[in-house]
Amino acid sequence: MPNPTLLILPGDGIGPEVMAEVRKIITWMGDKRDLAFDVSEDLVGGCAYDKHGVPLHDDTMARAQEVDAVLLGAVGGPKYDDLDFSVKPERGLLRLRKEMDLFSNLRPAQCFDALADFSSLKKDVVAGLDIVIVRELTSGVYFGEPRGIFKEGNERVGINTQRYTESEIARVARSAFELARKRGNKVCSMEKANVMESGQLWRDVVTEIHAAEYSDVELSHMYADAGAMQLCRWPKQFDVIVTDNLFGDMLSDMAAMLTGSLGMLPSASLGVPMDNGRPKALYEPVHGSAPDIAGQGKANPIACILSFAMALRYSFDRGDEAERVEQAVETVLADGLRTADLLGEEGVTPVSTSEMGDAIVAALDASL
Ligand code: IPM
Ligand code: MG
Repeated sequence: MPNPTLLILPGDGIGPEVMAEVRKIITWMGDKRDLAFDVSEDLVGGCAYDKHGVPLHDDTMARAQEVDAVLLGAVGGPKYDDLDFSVKPERGLLRLRKEMDLFSNLRPAQCFDALADFSSLKKDVVAGLDIVIVRELTSGVYFGEPRGIFKEGNERVGINTQRYTESEIARVARSAFELARKRGNKVCSMEKANVMESGQLWRDVVTEIHAAEYSDVELSHMYADAGAMQLCRWPKQFDVIVTDNLFGDMLSDMAAMLTGSLGMLPSASLGVPMDNGRPKALYEPVHGSAPDIAGQGKANPIACILSFAMALRYSFDRGDEAERVEQAVETVLADGLRTADLLGEEGVTPVSTSEMGDAIVAALDASL
């Protein structure tokens, strides 16, 4: 059997730094677990724009369609703020999501015991938290037409369109129900059915799919604004949350912060199965490119490393090795190692990005 293939797209800002630490884990899997990958690397985002004049070259797009999984760092930076919308770094990422048809974006928010004190919420609110937001990723207001800035009379008008088809809602709902069955068996669907027709359709379709195929799973509905409030008030009431592209973007940043730092949270974006049975897949940290701290060894590589763990689980069916990586992360946090985003408590040991990566590798060694 040939080795599985990975395309690494480190991107901009802290992307390359955190991805360098993921590389250590990938190498470790090959050396110590007989789980070798064929890895290629390419550009996405601002760095691709600098080289090619576009945030994602067609050759890179084609390669992404061929590999077993794509690992992405982060895109964007102030240098690119004034670029035309069509070539902004973020368009590279959105093109990957759209053309690979990665409709189901899993964003777990898990609070590590060692960090429960670090959250801005009270410890008993977040300790033991383990929820997943399933965000629809290829439709909604991110992609709906018409869109643009137009002239209307003597003023400009900015337009984006929230649009969902029944089948788009149904497929992401199914992925949320399937996931819930492997976890706490509860799904909460969030929209704004009180003000948006697309939200009403969302609620109707989720209810229909539930009744027809998943009545064993507990389903509830919440308006997304109330959902945001409940996420702060008592997040442990949730197991799986399923929501649209824009609400999912916002709610997942909020859920991330419950766990202490945005630097901790991984994500998996999954599409339909390829010929080899693996889903089309892209793995990336939830955090952005953090240009303000880039190049200083301050970035937390854990979100990106945990994203690779998700790849092991969802693309390569190696939940055992995924758990090994997650356990290694727990261990270094329990040992008190903290990157700059997690400093503030007494008695912890500040480490750089690469020291954190090395410590996780050492914890992996110790697990054998
Ligand atoms: C995310 C990011 C992206 C999004 C940006 C970088 C396009 O915020 O993945 O959450 O809005 O989806
Ligand atoms: Mg976001």
